[in-house]
Amino acid sequence: MSLRDRTVIVTGGPTREWIDPVRYISNASSGKMGVALADEAASRARAAVFVHGPVEGALLTGKPWRAVAVESTQDMLEALRREIVPGAVLVMAAAPADYRPAERSAVKMKKSGDELVLRLTPTPDILKTLAREREEGTVPPFFAVGFAAETHNIEAYALGKLAEKRLDMICLNDVSAEGAGFGTDTNIITMFCRGGERIALPIMSKRAAAARIFDEVERRLPA
Ligand code: CTP
Repeated sequence: MSLRDRTVIVTGGPTREWIDPVRYISNASSGKMGVALADEAASRARAAVFVHGPVEGALLTGKPWRAVAVESTQDMLEALRREIVPGAVLVMAAAPADYRPAERSAVKMKKSGDELVLRLTPTPDILKTLAREREEGTVPPFFAVGFAAETHNIEAYALGKLAEKRLDMICLNDVSAEGAGFGTDTNIITMFCRGGERIALPIMSKRAAAARIFDEVERRLPA
């Protein structure tokens, strides 16, 4: 099933959870895999949307897709609720922060010289929340592709996420492997599909990996 009549929504980059007006919690995601996926989606789909956290501005200029900038994990969830249309394909390459400070200080926190304990509270799991809302009928049916960034027990964790987040496909990425970590221009991906298939890709550019991922999505998209 071709993507020609579909909307593809790709997420990329980190999210940011503020501690006070000058400090935040985030992670090392560069957004490059997301950009490669959005570029590839734009060449195949009716419409491509890139919902991204804070990434380098140069990644976003002169692009063939619509960009939606968000900051926190909660913001990304809310943007996706607005963007998902019936039959859309959602590719979650973003690395949303899993925790946010329990309290955000309105003023800059001053150092005291003592130990500082930050209390964190979980942010929503975006894919799990959207899967539940799809079941409840408050979010339209969509095809879901997740990513799993792992450093150990990699296949077991990826398969766990495939089931738990009700995904159609998950792209496993061993972030400790040479040529597959954050900020690189290449990636080494293994795709696991809902039906049990496993497709291991060799090291390749993120754009070439994006093309292989969408080839598999097109093969599996329901009419
Ligand atoms: N994800 C999500 N919402 C979050 C965190 C992650 O939807 N709050 C998505 C990511 O975009 C990715 C998939 O879930 O597609 C797996 O993300 P990953 O960071 O590997 O796993 P987590 O679910 O956060 O679990 P853990 O950090 O324990 O590995």
